[in-house]
Formats: sequence, structure tokens, C-alpha cells
Amino acid sequence: MPAVALDIGTYSIKAVHAKPGKVVEVQRVVEVFNETGIALPTDDVSVAKLKELLDSFFGDNELPRNDVRLSLPETIISTKVINIPPLSDAELASAIGWQAEQHIPIPPEELSLEYQVLYRPEKRENKQMRVLLVGTRKRMVERYVAMFNEIGIEPSLLETQIISVIRSLQFTQEDPTTLIAHIGSSSMNLSIVMAGELKFVISQMNGGQMLTKALETSIGLDSAQAEQYKRSYGLDGSQFQGKVKEALLPAMNMLLAEIRKSVQFFVNQNPQDTVQRIVLSGGTALLPGIVQHITNELGVEVLIASPFSGAKGQVPENVNHPAMSVCMGLLQREM
Ligand SMILES: Nc1ncnc2c1ncn2[C@@H]1O[C@H](COP(=O)(O)OP(=O)(O)OP(=O)(O)O)[C@@H](O)[C@H]1O
Ligand SMILES: [Mg+2]
Repeated sequence: MPAVALDIGTYSIKAVHAKPGKVVEVQRVVEVFNETGIALPTDDVSVAKLKELLDSFFGDNELPRNDVRLSLPETIISTKVINIPPLSDAELASAIGWQAEQHIPIPPEELSLEYQVLYRPEKRENKQMRVLLVGTRKRMVERYVAMFNEIGIEPSLLETQIISVIRSLQFTQEDPTTLIAHIGSSSMNLSIVMAGELKFVISQMNGGQMLTKALETSIGLDSAQAEQYKRSYGLDGSQFQGKVKEALLPAMNMLLAEIRKSVQFFVNQNPQDTVQRIVLSGGTALLPGIVQHITNELGVEVLIASPFSGAKGQVPENVNHPAMSVCMGLLQREM
């Protein structure tokens, strides 16, 4: 049975209608500008606005409402990988609440916590154990799910964006250590996967919109023109006398500084390893010149995510492919 994977971004709402599984069979891909700019409603007014938009999104595009998979924004789900001395399952269960307080910025009374052991060393090894913590703001998730219920949708899956993106990339143990930079409009999620295993996650509240704003202010364009210039010229210095590149660079370098910091943090924690590859995902991955720029600055191989590469069916040419990683990852989840 086909499912709908939905990714509500502050820039656009994206859906893939497809038969889920390891090999996704795509029927339709839909992307609509999010005129509300709201990805996560925080009050009744924004709930009403987003609900209306979603209702027509499903209606206009004739998307079925019976198996809808959702990815939650990192603002209500906090994902962390922690390193602690090895504990048994029972010891971990009693220590985890305290660990969460140290690492998850959600007050305990609002927190719903899940965790998973990523790596547990043998007792005789002098190594740390790695645990994935996923903390959720209960009330916000309830409000979010209630909004869907009101338009006839009972979400069949809720997970965090980073997890969906990583699944869409189908890592194997043989893959080189990879940093995934998922750069949307108002957020950037960074994660590092080594030997197929998640090692590091961080989420930033900056993304492609910051690049558009930089063009608006420094060249004096309106937002639609700035969007156009950004997409056409980007970081290509040979275009428009290099003026667009020059205007974008300070903002781009802020994003790059975050990537560099994450690489550094990882290397400090894992001195015997290094990040060998960067994969760009999210809409901003298609910024002209971004691959070259990051390659030059960081000296590692940079690739653009192609979440449809293993899929069958109707894969459209004219959509932003790396922006669809979240939806494709949701569809690849075995349930
Ligand atoms: N060809 C392109 N070149 C450069 N930037 C692009 C291109 N296409 C889209 N973008 C930018 O990508 C961003 C949208 O990406 P995406 O759809 O991943 O964001 P979102 O999910 O809506 O946002 P968020 O997750 O941050 O709330 C916008 O800032 C848009 O300007
Ligand atoms: Mg997004």
C-alpha cells in the first residue's frame, strides 16, 4: 500500500506519495511554497493557519490521508549522541534521566525520552559506550499530532529529520566517515556517520534564508529577485561580476564555520579518525558553486545527496532532489 511522506519546512512543504520499502516506488512528488513560514505551530493561531494550508495541500494534490509519515523538526526533538563509561542495560536505565538532563535542553516535566545503545565496548576495553538520546517535547508533539487528527490524518510514523536523512543515504559499514550537512531554509542539521553508525548530531537555526537575506541587503534586491539570483549565480564568481558571490560569502562562511567546528569536535573526540567526505542535503545543496567552495575550504570530497538514486517509478526532473531526503528516508523505514 502506498504511503505519503511529509516534510513541512519553513520554506516549502514537501510530500512523496510512494510505495514504501527498501526500494521506494515513487508515484508522485509534490512541493509547495509554505506561505505561512510555519513548520511548527506554537499557538492556536499558527495551528489554524498551518492546518488550513495542509488540508488544501492534501486536497489539491489528491494525496491519501490513511498512511502519512511525518518527520518532526529538530526544534521539538533534540537528538544527541553521548559518550559515557560502559553500563549494563539496568544501570543505564537508572542513569539515563540524569544524563538527559545534562544533554537535552528540554525541561524534565515536558520531556519524553527515548534512547538506544549505539556502541557498547567489551568490559576489558578501555573505551566509552555511545548512546543515542532522543528527547521530545510531549505537549508540542501532542498539539502537532492533534492538528493532523483534525484534518483526518492519524500519522503512522513520527521521527526526527536527521534520522530520516541518514536513512535516505543508505550508508553501509564500508562507507568512509561522512559528515551530512542537511541545509534547509532556516535550519542546518549536521551529523557524522562512521562505519554506518551515527556518531554526532547537532542542529543550527541558520540556513538558505540567511543567504537570500544577505543578497537582499547587500545588493538591494527584493526577496523574489534575491532568491532568483541566489539560484542562478550562487557562489559562481564568474557570474554577475562576482557580486553575488561576494554578497553571499559572509553568510556562507558562517554555515561553513559550523561545519568546520563539528568536524573539529569529532576529530577531538576520535583522534584516530577523520571526516573523509561531506554529503550535502536539503534545498540549499543546489546552490551553484557550493560543492567547489566547501571542497576548497575544507579539503575533503563533497557530494550532493541524491535520495531518488535507488528508487523506482515516477521521479520528476524539475524538483530539488536533495530537498527530498527527509521524505525518501521516511519511506525507506521498515515498519
Ligand atoms: N537551486 C537552488 N540554489 C540555491 N538555493 C536553493 C535552490 N533551491 C532551493 N534553495 C534554497 O533551499 C532552501 C529550501 O530548502 P528546503 O526545502 O530543504 O528547506 P525547508 O525544509 O523548507 O526549510 P527548514 O527545514 O529549514 O524549515 C531555501 O532557502 C531555498 O532558497
Ligand atoms: Mg527542512
